[in-house]
Amino acid sequence: MAWHCNGITNQEMVEKLKNAGIIGSDKAEEAMLRIDRGKYCHEVDPYLDRPRKIGYNVTISAPHMHAYALTMMTEQLSRRGAHALDVGSGSGYLTSCMAHMVGPGGLVVGLEHIPELVERSRKNVEQDRPDLVRDGRIKFVVGDGRLGYEADGPYDAIHVGAAADTLPQTLVNQLAPGGRLLCPVVAVQGFQRYQDFVQVDKNQDGSITTKNLMQVMYVPLTDAKAQLGENN
Ligand SMILES: C[S@@+](CC[C@H](N)C(=O)[O-])C[C@H]1O[C@@H](n2cnc3c(N)ncnc32)[C@H](O)[C@@H]1O
Repeated sequence: MAWHCNGITNQEMVEKLKNAGIIGSDKAEEAMLRIDRGKYCHEVDPYLDRPRKIGYNVTISAPHMHAYALTMMTEQLSRRGAHALDVGSGSGYLTSCMAHMVGPGGLVVGLEHIPELVERSRKNVEQDRPDLVRDGRIKFVVGDGRLGYEADGPYDAIHVGAAADTLPQTLVNQLAPGGRLLCPVVAVQGFQRYQDFVQVDKNQDGSITTKNLMQVMYVPLTDAKAQLGENN
């Protein structure tokens, strides 16, 4: 599926993702048209549908995963004054798409543990959509995503861009009733190790409903030293 969605331009990439049925809502489509991936991915051919290096041993995720996640969070991000959290915000691309979707009264927090990436993501947004910064609906914070960011919660939507060993209960706790969490989670079956993209919905009574959406491949949600190979 992914290789069909390569684009020469942002618009071509989005059109192909829509035609392939991966973008499934008008709001997700509009966000991906209005946020230029080329301003967040500084490699040649930024509109290829695959993960690309952004330094610090990590990647900006593939456009089809962003398209899918934005589609699955459309209802939650469209609520008036929605609050959302993007854990492992990396380049800031998805955080910006989410900020476009929540509108001027909402707030999206990008939480990332590599300070240099946070600095770069701020610059990326400034160059692409300074209005998102000016009206205060986007902010980037340095911190361990496994702890979430309680200060601006509870959240209508939480996206995790790196794979957790187990479902992070702290993040589930920071979901508002009616909120949705999307998180890659490691699964083990016999000798096989893979990742499920897990959707967690918090019901109005506080109980949760989980669903495995598909198998995925993300970098690990880990500590900064391990990611940078500084543990030895
Ligand atoms: C696949 S990248 C996704 C980045 C972002 N969604 C994008 O597309 O640019 C995963 C990100 O998670 C970050 N990360 C990994 N473990 C983390 C942790 N414990 N806390 C915060 N960020 C973390 C990495 O530094 C990396 O930027």
